[in-house]
Amino acid sequence: MHRRLIAPGALAAASVLLAIPASAAGYSPGAPGIGDPYYPAYGNGGYDVSHYDLRLTYQPATDELAGTATILAKTTQDLSSFDLDFLLDVQEVRVNGATAAFAASGEHELVVTPKQLLAKGSSVTVVVRYSGVPSTKSAYGFSTWHRTPDGAVAADEPESAWWWFPSNDHPLDKATYDVSVAVPDGTQAISNGTLQSTSSRLGWTRYTWRQNKPQATYLATLALGKFDITTSTSEGGVPVVNAYSRDLGDGDGAARASVERTGEVVDWLSGYFGPYPFGSAGGYVPNTTTTYALETQTRVFYSPRQFANGSNTSVVVHELAHQWYGDSVSLKSWKDIWLNEGFARYAQWLWSEHEGEGTAQQLADYTYASHPADDAFWTVRPGDPGAENQFDAAVYDRGALAVQALRNEIGDDAFFAVLKGWPQKYAYGNASVADFREYAEQVSGKRLGALFDTWLFQPTKPAVSAVSAGTLTAPAQPKSWKKIAATNSLHGG
Ligand code: ARG
Ligand code: ZN
Repeated sequence: MHRRLIAPGALAAASVLLAIPASAAGYSPGAPGIGDPYYPAYGNGGYDVSHYDLRLTYQPATDELAGTATILAKTTQDLSSFDLDFLLDVQEVRVNGATAAFAASGEHELVVTPKQLLAKGSSVTVVVRYSGVPSTKSAYGFSTWHRTPDGAVAADEPESAWWWFPSNDHPLDKATYDVSVAVPDGTQAISNGTLQSTSSRLGWTRYTWRQNKPQATYLATLALGKFDITTSTSEGGVPVVNAYSRDLGDGDGAARASVERTGEVVDWLSGYFGPYPFGSAGGYVPNTTTTYALETQTRVFYSPRQFANGSNTSVVVHELAHQWYGDSVSLKSWKDIWLNEGFARYAQWLWSEHEGEGTAQQLADYTYASHPADDAFWTVRPGDPGAENQFDAAVYDRGALAVQALRNEIGDDAFFAVLKGWPQKYAYGNASVADFREYAEQVSGKRLGALFDTWLFQPTKPAVSAVSAGTLTAPAQPKSWKKIAATNSLHGG
């Protein structure tokens, strides 16, 4: 036995070494935030998650959610403790099998202190057993958990995970997901990706969903309620799963007439952005009173309000465009939001052109002319709008104007090469506005510093427009304008 070769004294010395306090050994707590300038407390430092396994039970009658999250991660520093972002009540935490100490801290931090120090670069399995009534929890005075008459929905940006699973809540830390939720028979549980199985037992039905491509935490969604689920396959071969609350009343037709075009829109967008990046597509329309839609990965969240004035394929185009611009290629920092919203809005302009309701150039001209130079619209800088203006109309509309300005500057060949090449170059990863400029310069062979500065970073109306708009006095309103603007004006809600 090799053990015999070690003197008893040496063994004792080894255990003393292990017991040395964390600080003395160079181990330290992970930061409570990942370092985002807009949201310093969002996400956490010291580790990187690769997978979330959520096994949950939900009772619609009482809004009780309970279950276990198993989180696979790798440490990025020598860690003595680390945070998760979470609001529900925690019963137990285990780290690599051993029970760990835990405590709530700040607005939405769960501080976990494992028994053993965690060396940089090691694999860590964190098991969190929890329960709670999400609708009773808030942080910073708000909640993004939306109850419906027959259940609830988790879908918001930039935060929604705190109300249903512990996470490293920032787009920089993307991971794959298995989400398995048991609900009373007759209720459905909708989440991202592919439905792996449903099984029924003792009055409960378990829905198990899998997202096998990296996904940002705010793009993970959960909807619980009575839904009608439709399935189909797009002409291009993308499986489509949509779900409609059975409670949509008069709005049911308009919702379906829009969202059932998902497959067609995905195929059409592929022509501009390259192959659809995920194994499934679709959307769901729960019976919420929220006003915005959200590009939740593979399964877009639509509020019924989006279809209150009739069908709206424009919002479907917007949210599906995000699957490339935002979901596959995610932001490095929330200040890079133009990379999401500028391009999703521009996709709506391209769709308008496709539908014969106004060209992208006409929409650019009209947008430019709609806002006089003293309009506060021009004070928002889409390239760094500030947290309070993250979803301001300017991020969308001036953001799309910037895209049209780029197109006019580098010409259609280079522009469409950039539009398609970008989602490939950064597929399933993260990128910044600076990365985009560098890529567009590389593809076009042009220096674009002045263009980006003018359109994204100056708090003023560009004096000489790179779009033809500067020369037009009163361009006619494109037919698609109201639908696109409605999508936009609903974003604030
Ligand atoms: N990314 C979403 C969209 O463009 C906007 C979400 C806005 N969030 C909000 N709480 N208003 O469709
Ligand atoms: Zn958007």
